[in-house]
Amino acid sequence: MGDARGYLRLIDQTRLPVEFVEIECRQVETVWEAIKMLRVRGAPAIGIAAAYGLCLALQTTVDEDEAAYFARLNVASDYLAASRPTAVNLFWALDRMKHKAQQLRGTAPVDKIHAALLEEARAIHEEDRQVCRAIGRYGAELLESNTGVLTHCNAGGLATADYGTALAVFFTAQAQGKAPHVFVDETRPLLQGARLTAWELAQRGVRATLICDSMAAQVMREGRVQAVITGADRIAANGDTANKIGTYSLAVLARAHEIPFYIAAPLSTFDLALSSGEGIPIEQRGREEITHGFGRQTAPDGVDVYNPAFDVTPAGLIRAIITERGVIEPVNAHTIAAMTAGA
Ligand code: MRU
Repeated sequence: MGDARGYLRLIDQTRLPVEFVEIECRQVETVWEAIKMLRVRGAPAIGIAAAYGLCLALQTTVDEDEAAYFARLNVASDYLAASRPTAVNLFWALDRMKHKAQQLRGTAPVDKIHAALLEEARAIHEEDRQVCRAIGRYGAELLESNTGVLTHCNAGGLATADYGTALAVFFTAQAQGKAPHVFVDETRPLLQGARLTAWELAQRGVRATLICDSMAAQVMREGRVQAVITGADRIAANGDTANKIGTYSLAVLARAHEIPFYIAAPLSTFDLALSSGEGIPIEQRGREEITHGFGRQTAPDGVDVYNPAFDVTPAGLIRAIITERGVIEPVNAHTIAAMTAGA
């Protein structure tokens, strides 16, 4: 994003890996559509996009009075918050932006508040870069050399400011010469694993093998996988973790094969207001994602479809959570409270 009157440029992730196309967002509606349609996706990236989206929304009221500016702030924040329900980073980033504005209300002219909000969005963006690097460092310590690891969906640079969460662990291990071998679930129905994770791993020269989601158990039984690491969209106070649909199945399979299952996520993904995963809202998406998933009809007309975009993995199945402050192990309300204190 440029200056206070600039615009937001995003990679359109729906076009990858075939085309690398950027979209220009000059209005908040374009950012909302980009989040809704998964052009920008992944919990931290959604939060960053929403923070910049709020700045775009407020460009129309910079020349008006403070009351108009703050009215627009609330309307635009509610609007962006309605784009997707599960990733808590979206609400975290919007709350942080609103808090910044409230701090300055009555103390500075509107154009100064607006400039400060753009700075806040940039800070959210920049901090996430640092956070991803730290997650990578802590996570890589958990991996031996030449380890087989399995991941689901995309928790890479595309899903964050840069470098990723789960993928940051693999990138760091690779940089340390540990040569991890990553098994990549294709991640039905929208194939974030096949389209995005396989692409990112290839870009950084990490050994990767693509598998269909239904092959994970077999790959584990063959002894090819020594750890499973995924990202997260929302982690409750007790460690129950929402992530892309299919993550829970992997955690169950990992337990059955005595393979450690790790979550890699920033502190901005914790929702301590929720005591357990039961309260996490699960996004339901359109039927056509399943009936027309590969650019053609793959199911009979009128078939009943259920399409939850996320599931919740119980804390008891998670060996540890890798954060920017360190590794939470064991995973429970007590250890989470200790690691997140003051965040
Ligand atoms: O529907 P998506 O593609 O936004 O789902 C993304 C995930 O589930 C990721 O694993 C999660 O957001 C972590 S991204 C670092």
